[in-house]
Amino acid sequence: MPRRRWRSFNGHRGGKLKVSVIGSGTMGRGIGQIFAQNGYDVNQVDVDQTALNMAEKSILESLNKLYSKHAISESPEDILKRINFSDSMESVRRSDLVIEAVFEKLEIKTDTLSKISDTVDKDVIIGTNTSSISINFLSKYVRNPERFLGIHFFNPVPIMKLVEVVSSELTTEFYLKKASDLLVNVGKDPVFVKDFPGFVSNRVLMPLIREAILVFEENVANARDIDKTFRLGMNHPMGPLELADFIGLDVCQDIMEVLYINYGDPRFKAPVTLRNFVNSGKLGRKSGEGFYKYEVKK
Ligand SMILES: NC(=O)c1ccc[n+]([C@@H]2O[C@H](COP(=O)([O-])OP(=O)(O)OC[C@H]3O[C@@H](n4cnc5c(N)ncnc54)[C@H](O)[C@@H]3O)[C@@H](O)[C@H]2O)c1
Repeated sequence: MPRRRWRSFNGHRGGKLKVSVIGSGTMGRGIGQIFAQNGYDVNQVDVDQTALNMAEKSILESLNKLYSKHAISESPEDILKRINFSDSMESVRRSDLVIEAVFEKLEIKTDTLSKISDTVDKDVIIGTNTSSISINFLSKYVRNPERFLGIHFFNPVPIMKLVEVVSSELTTEFYLKKASDLLVNVGKDPVFVKDFPGFVSNRVLMPLIREAILVFEENVANARDIDKTFRLGMNHPMGPLELADFIGLDVCQDIMEVLYINYGDPRFKAPVTLRNFVNSGKLGRKSGEGFYKYEVKK
């Protein structure tokens, strides 16, 4: 695997490119993995040591799976050696690109972004993986906001090719191009979107999921038949209820709330059934039950 050099990126920082990922949960660990898989040095950060241990385990598992299917040729152990797992923000200092993937909570995001931009050089690209918070709003917490943008990956990150690249009013073409080149280098296929709530993906997807839940609520059809309608009738790989379970019903509810507050349109209002499921701990795949039942991996 050829080692990528900063020289080919902006021409003035020597050595191997280092990508830091802050937050090592579902998304952060996938983001770290794809950069390591493609020859970058990765600094995988989390405040929670358990999350870091789980990230290491799950990245190795995912790499092993890809290796056994011949989707990668380098050994998983060698790829893993490029990832430094750390619970210290100091480790971010010498990065060339930093991607924030912490909890979708405003205070945690703004605090993390301030710390990142206080720590790295002023020309280092800073991206946020937020699903719903305004990039313009978050850019107030980043020094030199022309290098700040939304880099919205999809779950599971190693598999899904799409990334929504979201510019604020202050992001410059220079940094948009650099970020999108990096994403292409790790096998992603970006789309460019403006900073509107839900971007393109969730703005269009959430009303579909919401309507499917209402159809379920009104007993028009059962969950299997609702999903089958979309799989067989529209050629969707997953029906809307299966997809909601996969995303996480709590996550869907949070996104609907943000869309409803921002657009004030009832087509985004979280249905009662969704709220009841979330309140009773039925969060979809991750909790073992949502619209369907699942085996939960320990
Ligand atoms: N899950 C998805 O399908 C999905 C898809 C696209 C975007 N996103 C977005 O990605 C981000 C992360 O989501 P996730 O599903 O990976 O969440 P998650 O809950 O799985 O992981 C978040 C991680 O951030 C860590 N963290 C919290 N505060 C921190 C801090 N101050 N410094 C370092 N680490 C910290 C937590 O310990 C946790 O491990 C969110 O903004 C979410 O909206 C999620």
